[in-house]
Amino acid sequence: MHGFSYQNGSLLCEDVDLLSLAETHGTPLYVYSAGTLRNHFRRLDAALAGVDHEIAFAVKSNSNLSVLRLLAAEGAGFDIVSGGELFRVIKAGGNPAHCTFAGVGKTRAEIEYALQQGIYSFNVESEEELVYLNQVAGELGLVAPAAVRVNPNVDAHTHKYISTGKSENKFGVDFGAIEALYDRAARDLPNIKLRGLQMHIGSQLTSVKPFVEAVEKVKPLVETLKARHGIEFWSIGGGIGIVYHDSLESGSPEWWDAKSDEERPLTTELYGAEIVPRLKGLGLKILLEPGRYIVGNAGVLLTRCLYEKKGTAKTFKIVDAGMNDLIRPALYEGHHEIVPLKQPGTERVLVDVVGPICESGDFFCQNRELPDFQPGEVVALMSAGAYGFVMASNYNSRPLPAEILVDGAESKVIRTRQTLEDLIAGEL
Ligand code: LLP
Repeated sequence: MHGFSYQNGSLLCEDVDLLSLAETHGTPLYVYSAGTLRNHFRRLDAALAGVDHEIAFAVKSNSNLSVLRLLAAEGAGFDIVSGGELFRVIKAGGNPAHCTFAGVGKTRAEIEYALQQGIYSFNVESEEELVYLNQVAGELGLVAPAAVRVNPNVDAHTHKYISTGKSENKFGVDFGAIEALYDRAARDLPNIKLRGLQMHIGSQLTSVKPFVEAVEKVKPLVETLKARHGIEFWSIGGGIGIVYHDSLESGSPEWWDAKSDEERPLTTELYGAEIVPRLKGLGLKILLEPGRYIVGNAGVLLTRCLYEKKGTAKTFKIVDAGMNDLIRPALYEGHHEIVPLKQPGTERVLVDVVGPICESGDFFCQNRELPDFQPGEVVALMSAGAYGFVMASNYNSRPLPAEILVDGAESKVIRTRQTLEDLIAGEL
């Protein structure tokens, strides 16, 4: 569910007309719904109510300071993957003591910074990293809280670029090697405090089954580690998938209610119902690291049509956003609904919607039947709140778009559009 819908023929975000935002702030423009962010956070929190838990928002999915500030106020912790993300969390008023630090390639500078800030746990991805963490902590006279990421070798059935829980992926430590590694750390690494165990099998999972499979597989290991090393938390990662097809329709509760149990996409309620009973009684704090679920459907990218180009084989709608603004279609064949801001009739035309970048991969859809829209009109690329702006670049020397946060009838700029001068700042 989300805060985008047609009212009296115009697409609104909560109570704000998206066209008025496009006119005022220009395009391309990211717009987020604060109400949707809060709603998603609270729904997931409620679904986990049966166990002691903490939601550590995956900052990589959307790291705007205002988004982080809103989630910190809701009580979120944060899952970070770089010193830069920790810096952002601190600037947004987040508490480092509620931060976990993931990633296979942490640098010395990042480790030192996170140690000095007192983060909750380093989620360590290899034996080599654990040894290095012990060394750096020792040199600073500190003890590093750590959890090792276990690779449970479970197939997440998602796009190959965002599947992480199989043995052939670069992430985590093999399931069978974890016990020996914890024993070694307890014996030989005095500057490591073994605080938990972490796992994450992939992103955009649309079925609860792989989550259940991973939890069941890893649970006995967690019990052993708790008994032997007194670990206090188990992070079961992120990965809850969202609706990309029918994104606009899925904003309303009726759309969900009309689905049979078999057809209904994954919900937090189903996730909680399947996962919580399996975690109850462990006596551990359960951490979750959702990114996409919280913010994905809470954001859209507005873009204006510049030209319609009728080729012999195809009709192209050329828009002013490109793959540098939203790379998901180019990188993962990601599907984003494309919706005119003026409510369309039932007629459809077969088109490619493409950006201005000099790459054939610069498209938002190919051979898709869409309501017709003309040069000058603005459309919304739906479900763009997660892995949208954060993956944007200056490719083709295009300034980064502005970002807006809507809350009820209010809207505010939470990041100004880059200027041409910003493009060359720092260059000599
Ligand atoms: N925890 C860890 C260790 C992760 O690697 C990730 C995502 C998450 C949590 C959050 O996963 P989520 O709940 O958002 O699915 N750029 C890609 C997604 C990359 C995901 C990377 N890791 C995309 O646009 O689909």
